[in-house]
Amino acid sequence: MNRKKSWWILFIISLIVIIPFMAPYFLFNPDHSRIAIFSTTIQFPALIAHIFFAFIALIAGFLQFGKSIRKNNDRIHKLTGRIYFYSINISALFAIIVIFYVDNFSKAISFLVLTILWLFTTWKGIDSARKKNFVDHRKWLIRSFGITLVAITGRIVVPILLLTYSLLNGFHLPGGREGMIEDVLNVNIWVGLIVNFIIVEWGILNKKSKS
Ligand code: HEM
Repeated sequence: MNRKKSWWILFIISLIVIIPFMAPYFLFNPDHSRIAIFSTTIQFPALIAHIFFAFIALIAGFLQFGKSIRKNNDRIHKLTGRIYFYSINISALFAIIVIFYVDNFSKAISFLVLTILWLFTTWKGIDSARKKNFVDHRKWLIRSFGITLVAITGRIVVPILLLTYSLLNGFHLPGGREGMIEDVLNVNIWVGLIVNFIIVEWGILNKKSKS
């Protein structure tokens, strides 16, 4: 399969996965939230702002890494690059507020690590461009987009984790169905992070540097 086609497939899969998760929040009603809302004045608005800017970053990222824009139009490349950079910074800032309301420690730390890596890889990417080091610029922004896509992978792995949970428990669910889902949602971001790390470092960057 050619690169352009796989890029489109990844884009469409990402939208199919994330839009149903985003949709309830754009009713702007905390009663429709999928996660527990403890504060309608801080947590809920911060969550909506996080989701809105994260979605812009996701779309800008897909535009940015699509070869045709990058090769053919430098002005658009710079504009979408700026949108990608600022939307990640804003979304990450709101994510930090939301993390204070996450009630499970492992889950909270997974999001905190994700936020730090998101900011770090994006800042490194932009800093390398400012220093005219375009080899590092490309590498760091591929890493950054790999982190952005953890929002997708973390959700795709949920059915696999549910199956693994049942298998490991001999198909008896000690905490019932609810307990199983809760346990899985406390670790899925870690799994998504590791999967994307492996794909980016070994599947993309290592392969490219060898060829
Ligand atoms: C990569 C860095 C990201 C971080 C650190 C992050 C952080 C968070 C946090 C802390 C929550 C609240 C989770 C909870 O309380 O259980 C959340 C929820 C959410 N985030 Fe992000 N997020 C990131 C990327 C994204 C992206 C790229 C999108 C895509 C648009 C996104 C969409 C959402 C949605 C839809 C929710 C609502 C959760 C649900 O209903 O399942 N996030 N995020």
